[in-house]
Amino acid sequence: MGILDGKVAVVTGAGRGLGRGMALHLAREGARVVVNDLGGSVHGEGKDGSVAEQVVDEIRADGGEAAANADTVASWEGGQRIVQTAFDLYGRLDILINNAGILRDQPFWRMTEEEWDAVLDVHLMGSFHCTRAAVPFMQQQKWGRVLFITSTAGFIGTIGQCNYGAAKMGVLGLSRSLAVEMQEYNITSNCIAPFAWTRIPASIPAVTDEIKESVDRLFKDMEPEDVSPLAVFLAGEGADGISGQVFGVRGKEIYTFNQPRVVRSIHKAEGWSARDLADLIGPTFKQHLTPLDNSITFFDWDALL
Ligand SMILES: NC(=O)c1ccc[n+]([C@@H]2O[C@H](COP(=O)([O-])OP(=O)(O)OC[C@H]3O[C@@H](n4cnc5c(N)ncnc54)[C@H](O)[C@@H]3O)[C@@H](O)[C@H]2O)c1
Repeated sequence: MGILDGKVAVVTGAGRGLGRGMALHLAREGARVVVNDLGGSVHGEGKDGSVAEQVVDEIRADGGEAAANADTVASWEGGQRIVQTAFDLYGRLDILINNAGILRDQPFWRMTEEEWDAVLDVHLMGSFHCTRAAVPFMQQQKWGRVLFITSTAGFIGTIGQCNYGAAKMGVLGLSRSLAVEMQEYNITSNCIAPFAWTRIPASIPAVTDEIKESVDRLFKDMEPEDVSPLAVFLAGEGADGISGQVFGVRGKEIYTFNQPRVVRSIHKAEGWSARDLADLIGPTFKQHLTPLDNSITFFDWDALL
């Protein structure tokens, strides 16, 4: 017996990488799975329906049940069709994993509106479109599991990824607020920030030893399949009551992140002047300020300047 017997899941961007691993694992645990993937390039160009179909073939060969969908998550209509596929074929939807993703890395001062929009459209808007389509079904069932794939690119920061970082932080806020709103419907919402060797990190041009070292340290030896057990657990009945959380996976290590809370506060009845603060902010807050970590470098900075 699988821990997800009877459940129906949609996994976006499930034709490759992490999404493929999660879809296969969900199916092995008994879920019927809609494998969504547009099948485009790592930068979001093009379309190839066979990418999702291949994973469906793998699931079926393994004895599971699955259906392919090649719509984009980046439009309202796409999100509706992806979710409707599950309902039309299987009559319900219990689990949604918002995983589809692309990259358009660029130093911020060179970033075009198109590069910004393309990344926000897939990660943040895509998560909105699919979740917005899925939640009404889950509300009717009074049970649901929504997962978002976020990234430390947002909450730690990476050079050259302001669009991606903004999108992934947006996903975090969406998940947390949704978790609060959906409590009474027994619908949970959580984030996973993974590290895994997929075509996304593989697309980083390791043009210097420093970049190669950075990429190897963060991603090599981290299998996409390492992320699947946590996703499957969070998608099941056993994860009741776990909501609004942010988990991380790096290879065989699983952890949770804290979430921004007030760590130190000062108050003055008559209000502060900027001059007061100039004297106070340093000494009062110094050890509570989060240092900037620029060790994650995916650009040959010297070549750009
Ligand atoms: N690999 C990592 O270390 C890492 C780290 C942090 C976050 N992530 C996130 O994990 C998720 C999966 O990425 P991955 O590393 O497996 O990369 P991947 O490129 O192997 O998989 C992403 C899949 O999403 C699909 N996709 C892209 N745009 C789409 C769209 N508009 N509609 C439907 N499908 C679309 C792609 O075709 C692709 O198959 C992404 O959200 C990514 O940002 C990955």
